[in-house]
Order: sequence, then structure tokens, then C-alpha cells
Amino acid sequence: MTKIIIDIDTAVREITEGNIVALPTETVYGLGANALNENAVVKIFEAKQRPVFNPLIVHVHDTDEFEKYGKDIPDEVYKLAEKFSPGPITYIVKKKRIIPDIVTSGNDSVGLRIPSHEMFREVIKLSGVPVSAPSANRSGKISPTTAADVLKELDGKIDFILDGGKCKIGIESTVVSFLENEISILRHGYITREDIEKVTGKINIIKNGKIISPGQMKIHYAPFTPLYITEDADEIKNVLKERAAVLDLKKFADKREIALNLFSELRHLDEMKFEMIIAEKTDGEGIGAAINDRLERASSGKIKIINSKIRITE
Ligand code: TXA
Ligand code: MG
Repeated sequence: MTKIIIDIDTAVREITEGNIVALPTETVYGLGANALNENAVVKIFEAKQRPVFNPLIVHVHDTDEFEKYGKDIPDEVYKLAEKFSPGPITYIVKKKRIIPDIVTSGNDSVGLRIPSHEMFREVIKLSGVPVSAPSANRSGKISPTTAADVLKELDGKIDFILDGGKCKIGIESTVVSFLENEISILRHGYITREDIEKVTGKINIIKNGKIISPGQMKIHYAPFTPLYITEDADEIKNVLKERAAVLDLKKFADKREIALNLFSELRHLDEMKFEMIIAEKTDGEGIGAAINDRLERASSGKIKIINSKIRITE
């Protein structure tokens, strides 16, 4: 039986005893374990059915800890951290040996993040260990943004979910690599390219669509109902009528609000069991890059109307 709890002490006890526990962050809920305890970290991979080649982010309490787990950390990391951490950004740097290989999937690098959710920070502080935590969904599925959504994903697979309310951001952290003297965004997130470039000057984005971040697999965040991207959702809806649900992003005031609600809306429509879900992308500016990235990874392809018939074009 999985229990939703609100007392931090139980979560701390679970971490220190080498168990896994779902924890709230400002981005999405994470499934945490002591990052220095291999046996504990294995439990994360098992509960999520996560492929072992996909490395985990290590969450720490403040920048003083970066040097304990990372090495040759460039100044830019600290400059960015001054502005954006605690917060939704993960720094990929060379790793020290104290971090077990299972955490980084054998890579020579480690992702470090200081989450801003106070409950998560308390858990790190009180347990006295770094906490590795991927999003608390089954591998490839939609990231949970409430304790109730974690329960839907992992009921029976974990003992406790620490309830810290609805996540304030709603999409995962921006993942930025500092390896090989280059700064590259490996995963778009709430902190945008423009935000980062104001601090560091020009940076790279995932090059030529090449997968650099192992977790950036094409299908991710997949609902059970196939999702298709279209240029004109109303036009498609007119043809498909009640067979299709529209993921209507226009009803939100701005992109922050879209990010905040994207995964919960998608989950909600998925539960309604339509034949398909259709969605239009955003203009891709600012946080729009992260939103479009999640939509593309959730989708089974693109559709449009050709000669008054609906066609899947990709
Ligand atoms: O907002 C977030 O980042 C959430 C919360 C829980 O902190 N966590 C999260 O973790 O989204 P996960 O495991 O779902 O995604 C982590 C991403 C994956 O794409 C993974 O491949 C990448 O970060 N990553 C982690 N360590 C890496 C490394 N050493 N090198 C390259 N990519 C790495
Ligand atoms: Mg994830």
C-alpha cells in the first residue's frame, strides 16, 4: 500500500534507511533515494522500470556541495547558480568517484540540481545526503505534478509519497551541460536559452538533433491515448467530432501557465479515453521551446486534412 504523507521526518527516515520515497519539487514530483547508496538507487530504476542507460539527477542543498560530487566545475556554473538556483536548472559537470556509476549510468559526468521546494530541501538537509531523483512516473509516461498523480503512476510500487502540493512550475528542469568547455542545453525547461545567455553569452542547443542527454529519447511523456500535433486543431475537431479531444493551450493566459498545466491537462484528457488527442504547438519562443519539446515527445505524429480526409503526415 502506498501512503500519501505530509510529515518530513518519515521521508527523511526512508532516505537514510536506503529506501525510496516520492518527493515534491517545484518542477515535477521526483522519486528520491540516497545518491551515495547503490542499493537504494537500484530501487528507483526498478519502481520506474527505467532503462539503466538513463542517468539520474543528483539533488543537493546548496552550491557548497557541488565540489563534493562534481569536479573541474567552471565559473559559469556558479554564475548561473547565483541567479537561478535553488530552482529549475540542472548542471552537468564531470563527476567525482563518490557518486556510484549506477546514478550516472556509467557516464563520467553528473547532473547537479538545487531544487527550490522547501520540503525537498529540508529532506536533503536533514538526511545529510545528496538525493538522486528522476521524475516520479513510470518510464516514458507523463511526469506527475501532484501527489495524487504520483499515486496513479506508482501505486503499490513505493511506500510513501510526501505531499507538497501542486508543483509551481509543472515541467522539468532545464538540463545544461558544461562538458568539453562548451555550454549546451540538453533539455529545454523553464529557465530558457535567453535567460542563460544573459549570463554566459551564446550557448549551444542539442546539436543536429543528436541525442546527447541519454534521457532525451524520442517517445517520452506518452499518454495511452495517441496524441497528434496539428496546425489547426479546430479544423480537425470539426471532422472527428467527439472521437477526439483537443489539448487546448489557448485557454491559458501565458506560457508559464501552459507549462504549469500541461502535464495535468494531458493526464486528464488521457483518462477520458478518447480515440485521439490533438494539440497545436506554441510559437517556440521562451518557455515555448520546452513546451513544444514535451508535446513532440508525447506525440505519435502529425496530422492534417488533405482532400477533406485526415492524414497522418509524419
Ligand atoms: O525537474 C527535474 O529535473 C526533475 C525533478 C524531480 O528534479 N527530475 C527529472 O529527472 O526530470 P529525469 O530523470 O526524469 O530526467 C533527467 C534528465 C534525463 O534526460 C537524463 O538523461 C538527464 O537529465 N541527465 C541526468 N544526468 C545526466 C548526465 N550525467 N549526462 C547527461 N544527461 C543527464
Ligand atoms: Mg522524467
